[in-house]
Amino acid sequence: MKAVKIIIVFMIACFIGYSCDSTTYEEISGEVENPTYSKNIKPIIENNCLSCHSAAAAEYPTMETYAQVRDAAENGNMICRIDDQSCGAVMPQSGRMPQTRIDIIKKWVVNGYPN
Ligand code: HEC
Repeated sequence: MKAVKIIIVFMIACFIGYSCDSTTYEEISGEVENPTYSKNIKPIIENNCLSCHSAAAAEYPTMETYAQVRDAAENGNMICRIDDQSCGAVMPQSGRMPQTRIDIIKKWVVNGYPN
């Protein structure tokens, strides 16, 4: 019985943790008209990509700075990997991000990578 309680508490904790994580994104309010790197893109990359794509984790491409993220989108296949996946496995590896989050990144690219 005790084990069951522990599991239930753990599941609730996970759920709360997950919801908190999601609400930190600007996208919750819907459309983001003018996404910028510091306000919108950085938090998305930090929460979804940096566990692998940091200098420490060493997965290519490193996406810790504005210049690195911009380069991954502009010259690399980052947009393809998060969106249509015709160039490789979906990123993040745990599963495609919600469409709103992908759209924010795409709008940032179309708008010319505002910092
Ligand atoms: C759990 C680890 C992990 C996470 C999280 C992750 N990636 Fe990756 N990523 C990898 C690995 C491993 C590869 C190399 C294997 C491959 O190409 O699929 C890779 C490859 C890539 C590539 C291809 C680089 C190239 O040209 O060969 C891009 C672009 C990329 N990831 C972007 C992202 C983005 C953007 C995110 C977040 C939205 C993300 N990744 C999240 C592990 C991860």
